[in-house]
Amino acid sequence: MTTTLVETPREAADLVALLTTREPAEEAALFAAADAVRKEHVGDGVHLRALIEFSSYCRGSCKYCGLRAANRELQRYRMAPEDIVAAAVVARDLGYRTVVLQSGEDASYTGEMLAGVVREIKALCDVAVTMCVGERPEADYALWREAGADRYLLRIETSDPDLYATLHPGMSFDNRLRCLQTLRRLDYELGCGVLIGLPGQSDESRARDLLFLADLEPDMLGLGPFIPHPQTPIADALPADLTTTLRMTALARLLLPGAHIVATTALGTIDPAGRERGLSVGADVVMPNVTPQQFRALYEIYPGKICINETPDKCRGCIELRIRGLGRHVAGGKGGRPKDSFPQGVDRE
Ligand code: 5AD
Ligand code: FES
Repeated sequence: MTTTLVETPREAADLVALLTTREPAEEAALFAAADAVRKEHVGDGVHLRALIEFSSYCRGSCKYCGLRAANRELQRYRMAPEDIVAAAVVARDLGYRTVVLQSGEDASYTGEMLAGVVREIKALCDVAVTMCVGERPEADYALWREAGADRYLLRIETSDPDLYATLHPGMSFDNRLRCLQTLRRLDYELGCGVLIGLPGQSDESRARDLLFLADLEPDMLGLGPFIPHPQTPIADALPADLTTTLRMTALARLLLPGAHIVATTALGTIDPAGRERGLSVGADVVMPNVTPQQFRALYEIYPGKICINETPDKCRGCIELRIRGLGRHVAGGKGGRPKDSFPQGVDRE
Protein backbone atom coordinates (compact mmCIF):
# COMPACT_ATOMS: atom_id res chain seq x y z
CA MET A 1 0.00 0.00 0.00
CA THR A 2 1.46 3.34 -0.98
CA THR A 3 0.80 6.55 0.84
CA THR A 4 -1.29 9.11 -1.03
CA LEU A 5 -0.44 12.70 -1.74
CA VAL A 6 -2.89 14.75 0.28
CA GLU A 7 -2.12 18.11 -1.24
CA THR A 8 -0.86 19.35 -4.59
CA PRO A 9 2.61 20.83 -4.05
CA ARG A 10 2.65 24.50 -5.01
CA GLU A 11 5.86 25.74 -3.42
CA ALA A 12 9.22 25.39 -5.13
CA ALA A 13 10.67 23.58 -2.10
CA ASP A 14 7.89 20.98 -2.12
CA LEU A 15 8.31 20.43 -5.84
CA VAL A 16 12.06 19.98 -5.40
CA ALA A 17 11.42 17.47 -2.63
CA LEU A 18 9.23 15.38 -4.92
CA LEU A 19 11.63 15.72 -7.85
CA THR A 20 14.51 14.45 -5.77
CA THR A 21 13.03 12.01 -3.26
CA ARG A 22 14.81 8.69 -2.88
CA GLU A 23 11.77 7.13 -1.24
CA PRO A 24 10.12 4.71 -3.68
CA ALA A 25 6.83 5.07 -1.78
CA GLU A 26 6.83 8.84 -2.28
CA GLU A 27 7.45 8.46 -5.97
CA ALA A 28 4.72 5.82 -6.23
CA ALA A 29 2.29 8.11 -4.39
CA LEU A 30 3.12 10.97 -6.78
CA PHE A 31 2.57 8.80 -9.84
CA ALA A 32 -0.68 7.37 -8.46
CA ALA A 33 -2.00 10.84 -7.61
CA ALA A 34 -1.17 12.13 -11.10
CA ASP A 35 -2.82 9.13 -12.74
CA ALA A 36 -5.96 9.62 -10.64
CA VAL A 37 -6.13 13.35 -11.44
CA ARG A 38 -5.66 12.58 -15.15
CA LYS A 39 -8.48 10.05 -15.05
CA GLU A 40 -10.81 12.37 -13.20
CA HIS A 41 -10.19 15.49 -15.26
CA VAL A 42 -9.45 14.32 -18.81
CA GLY A 43 -10.53 10.68 -18.79
CA ASP A 44 -9.06 7.50 -20.26
CA GLY A 45 -9.02 8.64 -23.88
CA VAL A 46 -5.62 9.34 -25.42
CA HIS A 47 -5.58 12.08 -28.05
CA LEU A 48 -3.48 11.49 -31.13
CA ARG A 49 -1.88 14.44 -32.91
CA ALA A 50 -0.39 13.67 -36.31
CA LEU A 51 3.01 15.32 -36.59
CA ILE A 52 4.18 16.61 -39.97
CA GLU A 53 7.82 17.74 -39.86
CA PHE A 54 7.79 19.77 -43.05
CA SER A 55 11.16 21.54 -43.05
CA SER A 56 14.44 20.90 -41.28
CA TYR A 57 15.92 24.29 -42.19
CA CYS A 58 16.41 26.52 -39.17
CA ARG A 59 17.88 29.98 -38.73
CA GLY A 60 18.25 29.33 -35.01
CA SER A 61 21.23 28.31 -32.96
CA CYS A 62 19.75 26.64 -29.89
CA LYS A 63 22.73 24.86 -28.40
CA TYR A 64 20.89 21.58 -27.79
CA CYS A 65 19.20 21.15 -31.15
CA GLY A 66 20.49 19.12 -34.08
CA LEU A 67 18.64 21.36 -36.53
CA ARG A 68 20.65 24.44 -35.49
CA ALA A 69 21.85 26.45 -38.49
CA ALA A 70 25.51 25.85 -37.61
CA ASN A 71 25.14 22.09 -38.05
CA ARG A 72 26.46 21.83 -41.59
CA GLU A 73 26.53 18.02 -41.50
CA LEU A 74 22.77 17.72 -41.60
CA GLN A 75 21.19 17.15 -44.99
CA ARG A 76 18.24 19.56 -45.06
CA TYR A 77 14.86 19.24 -46.71
CA ARG A 78 11.82 21.36 -47.28
CA MET A 79 8.40 20.06 -48.30
CA ALA A 80 6.43 21.94 -50.96
CA PRO A 81 3.12 23.42 -49.75
CA GLU A 82 1.11 20.88 -51.77
CA ASP A 83 3.11 18.04 -50.21
CA ILE A 84 2.36 19.36 -46.71
CA VAL A 85 -1.33 19.36 -47.59
CA ALA A 86 -0.98 15.83 -49.02
CA ALA A 87 0.60 14.67 -45.75
CA ALA A 88 -2.37 16.13 -43.85
CA VAL A 89 -4.73 14.21 -46.12
CA VAL A 90 -2.80 11.01 -45.31
CA ALA A 91 -3.25 11.83 -41.62
CA ARG A 92 -6.97 12.43 -42.12
CA ASP A 93 -7.33 9.11 -43.93
CA LEU A 94 -5.62 7.36 -41.02
CA GLY A 95 -8.30 8.77 -38.74
CA TYR A 96 -6.36 11.60 -37.12
CA ARG A 97 -8.39 14.63 -36.05
CA THR A 98 -5.44 16.94 -35.40
CA VAL A 99 -2.42 17.70 -37.56
CA VAL A 100 0.63 19.48 -36.20
CA LEU A 101 2.68 21.43 -38.74
CA GLN A 102 6.20 21.60 -37.35
CA SER A 103 9.46 22.92 -38.79
CA GLY A 104 12.65 24.68 -37.89
CA GLU A 105 12.48 28.47 -38.04
CA ASP A 106 12.43 28.57 -41.82
CA ALA A 107 11.69 32.03 -43.22
CA SER A 108 11.48 30.71 -46.77
CA TYR A 109 7.85 29.91 -46.02
CA THR A 110 6.15 33.30 -45.93
CA GLY A 111 3.21 33.93 -43.65
CA GLU A 112 0.92 33.91 -46.68
CA MET A 113 2.31 30.57 -47.93
CA LEU A 114 1.61 28.83 -44.63
CA ALA A 115 -1.80 30.52 -44.40
CA GLY A 116 -2.57 28.95 -47.78
CA VAL A 117 -1.50 25.54 -46.47
CA VAL A 118 -3.73 25.94 -43.41
CA ARG A 119 -6.70 27.06 -45.51
CA GLU A 120 -6.35 24.13 -47.85
CA ILE A 121 -6.03 21.59 -45.04
CA LYS A 122 -9.11 23.04 -43.33
CA ALA A 123 -11.03 22.84 -46.61
CA LEU A 124 -10.09 19.21 -47.24
CA CYS A 125 -9.94 17.73 -43.75
CA ASP A 126 -12.13 17.96 -40.67
CA VAL A 127 -9.13 18.38 -38.39
CA ALA A 128 -7.73 20.83 -35.89
CA VAL A 129 -4.53 22.45 -37.15
CA THR A 130 -1.70 23.08 -34.74
CA MET A 131 1.21 25.26 -35.79
CA CYS A 132 4.71 24.74 -34.38
CA VAL A 133 7.11 26.88 -36.37
CA GLY A 134 8.72 29.03 -33.71
CA GLU A 135 8.90 32.77 -33.27
CA ARG A 136 7.27 34.80 -36.02
CA PRO A 137 5.88 38.33 -36.32
CA GLU A 138 2.43 38.91 -34.88
CA ALA A 139 1.12 39.50 -38.41
CA ASP A 140 1.94 35.89 -39.35
CA TYR A 141 0.33 34.48 -36.22
CA ALA A 142 -2.79 36.54 -36.98
CA LEU A 143 -2.84 35.46 -40.62
CA TRP A 144 -2.69 31.76 -39.72
CA ARG A 145 -5.38 32.16 -37.09
CA GLU A 146 -7.63 33.82 -39.68
CA ALA A 147 -6.81 30.99 -42.09
CA GLY A 148 -8.21 28.56 -39.53
CA ALA A 149 -5.24 27.43 -37.42
CA ASP A 150 -6.56 26.40 -34.01
CA ARG A 151 -3.54 25.82 -31.84
CA TYR A 152 0.10 26.84 -31.44
CA LEU A 153 2.96 25.05 -29.73
CA LEU A 154 5.85 27.17 -28.47
CA ARG A 155 7.90 25.79 -25.66
CA ILE A 156 9.64 28.22 -23.33
CA GLU A 157 12.34 25.48 -23.11
CA THR A 158 13.52 26.84 -19.74
CA SER A 159 11.90 29.48 -17.55
CA ASP A 160 15.28 30.59 -16.21
CA PRO A 161 16.23 33.73 -18.18
CA ASP A 162 19.98 33.23 -17.57
CA LEU A 163 19.98 29.59 -18.66
CA TYR A 164 17.79 30.60 -21.59
CA ALA A 165 20.35 33.20 -22.66
CA THR A 166 23.21 30.69 -22.38
CA LEU A 167 21.46 28.09 -24.53
CA HIS A 168 19.89 30.39 -27.11
CA PRO A 169 22.52 32.72 -28.55
CA GLY A 170 20.98 35.56 -30.52
CA MET A 171 17.52 34.95 -29.11
CA SER A 172 15.53 36.82 -26.49
CA PHE A 173 13.65 35.34 -23.56
CA ASP A 174 11.43 38.42 -23.50
CA ASN A 175 10.51 37.98 -27.12
CA ARG A 176 9.54 34.38 -26.47
CA LEU A 177 7.29 35.50 -23.64
CA ARG A 178 5.84 38.15 -25.92
CA CYS A 179 5.11 35.52 -28.58
CA LEU A 180 3.26 33.40 -26.00
CA GLN A 181 1.19 36.39 -24.95
CA THR A 182 0.42 37.30 -28.56
CA LEU A 183 -0.69 33.77 -29.37
CA ARG A 184 -2.97 33.77 -26.37
CA ARG A 185 -4.44 37.15 -27.31
CA LEU A 186 -5.13 35.83 -30.81
CA ASP A 187 -7.14 33.08 -29.13
CA TYR A 188 -4.99 30.15 -30.14
CA GLU A 189 -5.19 27.13 -27.90
CA LEU A 190 -1.73 27.44 -26.46
CA GLY A 191 0.88 24.74 -25.98
CA CYS A 192 4.03 25.32 -24.00
CA GLY A 193 6.66 23.24 -22.30
CA VAL A 194 10.26 22.81 -21.28
CA LEU A 195 13.27 20.61 -21.83
CA ILE A 196 14.16 18.49 -18.84
CA GLY A 197 17.75 17.78 -17.88
CA LEU A 198 19.48 20.57 -19.77
CA PRO A 199 23.10 21.12 -18.72
CA GLY A 200 23.13 23.86 -16.10
CA GLN A 201 19.52 23.19 -15.08
CA SER A 202 19.09 22.45 -11.38
CA ASP A 203 16.21 20.80 -9.57
CA GLU A 204 15.23 24.25 -8.31
CA SER A 205 15.15 25.46 -11.89
CA ARG A 206 12.93 22.54 -12.90
CA ALA A 207 10.62 23.34 -9.98
CA ARG A 208 10.39 26.93 -11.19
CA ASP A 209 9.63 25.64 -14.70
CA LEU A 210 6.61 23.88 -13.24
CA LEU A 211 5.49 27.02 -11.42
CA PHE A 212 5.99 29.07 -14.57
CA LEU A 213 3.79 26.66 -16.53
CA ALA A 214 1.18 26.53 -13.77
CA ASP A 215 1.03 30.30 -13.91
CA LEU A 216 0.83 30.43 -17.72
CA GLU A 217 -1.98 27.84 -17.74
CA PRO A 218 -1.43 26.54 -21.27
CA ASP A 219 -4.01 24.25 -22.86
CA MET A 220 -1.29 21.80 -23.84
CA LEU A 221 2.02 20.82 -22.34
CA GLY A 222 5.08 19.07 -23.75
CA LEU A 223 7.79 18.19 -21.26
CA GLY A 224 10.59 16.47 -23.10
CA PRO A 225 13.81 14.92 -21.89
CA PHE A 226 16.97 16.53 -23.28
CA ILE A 227 18.98 14.13 -25.45
CA PRO A 228 22.47 15.36 -26.44
CA HIS A 229 23.09 15.66 -30.15
CA PRO A 230 26.67 14.94 -31.34
CA GLN A 231 26.77 17.92 -33.74
CA THR A 232 26.01 20.55 -31.12
CA PRO A 233 28.17 22.51 -28.68
CA ILE A 234 26.72 20.50 -25.77
CA ALA A 235 27.30 17.08 -27.31
CA ASP A 236 29.06 15.86 -24.16
CA ALA A 237 26.28 16.74 -21.73
CA LEU A 238 24.41 13.93 -20.00
CA PRO A 239 20.93 13.02 -21.24
CA ALA A 240 17.91 13.55 -19.02
CA ASP A 241 16.96 10.63 -16.87
CA LEU A 242 13.65 8.86 -17.20
CA THR A 243 12.66 9.26 -13.57
CA THR A 244 13.04 13.03 -13.54
CA THR A 245 11.05 13.29 -16.75
CA LEU A 246 8.25 11.15 -15.34
CA ARG A 247 8.18 13.09 -12.09
CA MET A 248 7.96 16.38 -14.01
CA THR A 249 5.06 14.97 -16.03
CA ALA A 250 3.25 13.83 -12.90
CA LEU A 251 3.74 17.16 -11.14
CA ALA A 252 2.56 19.04 -14.23
CA ARG A 253 -0.66 17.00 -14.15
CA LEU A 254 -1.24 17.86 -10.49
CA LEU A 255 -0.66 21.55 -11.15
CA LEU A 256 -2.71 21.66 -14.37
CA PRO A 257 -5.42 19.02 -13.93
CA GLY A 258 -7.31 19.84 -17.13
CA ALA A 259 -4.42 20.35 -19.56
CA HIS A 260 -3.51 18.07 -22.43
CA ILE A 261 -0.09 16.65 -21.61
CA VAL A 262 2.06 14.91 -24.20
CA ALA A 263 3.92 11.67 -23.70
CA THR A 264 6.70 12.90 -25.98
CA THR A 265 8.55 11.12 -28.74
CA ALA A 266 11.78 12.00 -26.91
CA LEU A 267 10.46 10.10 -23.89
CA GLY A 268 9.88 7.12 -26.19
CA THR A 269 13.45 7.54 -27.37
CA ILE A 270 15.18 7.45 -23.97
CA ASP A 271 13.17 4.36 -23.00
CA PRO A 272 11.33 1.90 -25.26
CA ALA A 273 8.30 2.09 -22.96
CA GLY A 274 8.74 5.80 -22.24
CA ARG A 275 5.52 6.96 -23.86
CA GLU A 276 3.52 4.32 -22.00
CA ARG A 277 5.20 5.35 -18.76
CA GLY A 278 4.30 8.98 -19.47
CA LEU A 279 0.68 8.05 -20.17
CA SER A 280 0.60 6.24 -16.83
CA VAL A 281 1.73 9.25 -14.80
CA GLY A 282 -0.46 12.02 -16.14
CA ALA A 283 -0.08 12.31 -19.92
CA ASP A 284 -3.07 12.01 -22.26
CA VAL A 285 -1.62 12.85 -25.69
CA VAL A 286 0.75 11.15 -28.14
CA MET A 287 2.06 12.71 -31.34
CA PRO A 288 2.68 9.96 -33.89
CA ASN A 289 4.80 10.86 -36.87
CA VAL A 290 3.13 11.22 -40.28
CA THR A 291 6.10 12.83 -42.00
CA PRO A 292 6.76 11.05 -45.30
CA GLN A 293 9.21 8.26 -44.61
CA GLN A 294 12.05 9.62 -46.76
CA PHE A 295 12.36 12.76 -44.62
CA ARG A 296 12.08 11.32 -41.14
CA ALA A 297 15.72 10.52 -40.47
CA LEU A 298 16.68 14.02 -41.64
CA TYR A 299 14.58 15.78 -39.01
CA GLU A 300 17.22 15.00 -36.45
CA ILE A 301 16.53 17.27 -33.49
CA TYR A 302 18.23 14.65 -31.31
CA PRO A 303 19.83 11.31 -32.20
CA GLY A 304 18.16 7.92 -32.00
CA LYS A 305 14.68 9.28 -32.64
CA ILE A 306 12.11 6.51 -32.82
CA CYS A 307 9.94 5.80 -35.86
CA ILE A 308 12.42 6.96 -38.50
CA ASN A 309 12.10 3.71 -40.43
CA GLU A 310 8.34 3.54 -40.12
CA THR A 311 5.55 4.79 -42.35
CA PRO A 312 2.54 6.85 -41.21
CA ASP A 313 0.20 3.85 -41.18
CA LYS A 314 2.69 1.72 -39.26
CA CYS A 315 2.92 4.32 -36.48
CA ARG A 316 -0.86 4.70 -36.37
CA GLY A 317 -1.31 0.98 -35.76
CA CYS A 318 1.61 0.75 -33.35
CA ILE A 319 0.46 3.56 -31.14
CA GLU A 320 -3.10 2.29 -30.90
CA LEU A 321 -1.82 -1.11 -29.75
CA ARG A 322 0.35 0.54 -27.14
CA ILE A 323 -2.57 2.61 -25.86
CA ARG A 324 -4.85 -0.42 -25.68
CA GLY A 325 -2.10 -2.30 -23.88
CA LEU A 326 -2.52 0.23 -21.07
CA GLY A 327 -6.26 -0.37 -20.85
CA ARG A 328 -6.86 3.05 -22.42
CA HIS A 329 -8.36 3.97 -25.79
CA VAL A 330 -7.83 6.43 -28.60
CA ALA A 331 -10.05 9.44 -27.88
CA GLY A 332 -12.60 10.46 -30.48
CA GLY A 333 -13.02 14.05 -31.58
CA LYS A 334 -10.42 16.74 -32.05
CA GLY A 335 -9.47 16.96 -28.41
CA GLY A 336 -9.46 20.70 -28.01
CA ARG A 337 -9.75 22.62 -24.78
CA PRO A 338 -11.24 20.25 -22.24
CA LYS A 339 -14.18 22.59 -21.74
CA ASP A 340 -14.93 22.30 -25.48
CA SER A 341 -14.48 18.54 -25.49
CA PHE A 342 -16.71 17.89 -22.53
CA PRO A 343 -19.28 20.68 -22.52
CA GLN A 344 -21.33 19.01 -19.82
CA GLY A 345 -18.28 17.91 -17.92
CA VAL A 346 -19.55 14.33 -18.02
CA ASP A 347 -18.55 12.78 -21.33
CA ARG A 348 -14.89 12.25 -20.74
CA GLU A 349 -14.36 9.81 -23.58
N1 5AD B 1 16.65 16.72 -27.09
C1 5AD B 1 15.33 16.69 -26.83
N2 5AD B 1 14.46 17.59 -27.32
C2 5AD B 1 14.95 18.59 -28.10
N3 5AD B 1 14.35 19.64 -28.69
C3 5AD B 1 15.29 20.32 -29.37
N4 5AD B 1 16.50 19.75 -29.21
C4 5AD B 1 16.32 18.67 -28.41
C5 5AD B 1 17.19 17.67 -27.87
N5 5AD B 1 18.50 17.67 -28.12
C6 5AD B 1 12.93 19.97 -28.54
C7 5AD B 1 12.72 21.43 -28.15
C8 5AD B 1 11.77 21.93 -29.21
C9 5AD B 1 11.15 20.67 -29.74
C10 5AD B 1 10.57 20.78 -31.11
O1 5AD B 1 12.22 19.76 -29.72
O2 5AD B 1 12.11 21.51 -26.87
O3 5AD B 1 10.80 22.85 -28.73
FE1 FES C 1 5.96 4.84 -34.79
FE2 FES C 1 5.44 2.91 -32.87
S1 FES C 1 4.65 4.94 -33.05
S2 FES C 1 6.58 2.75 -34.78
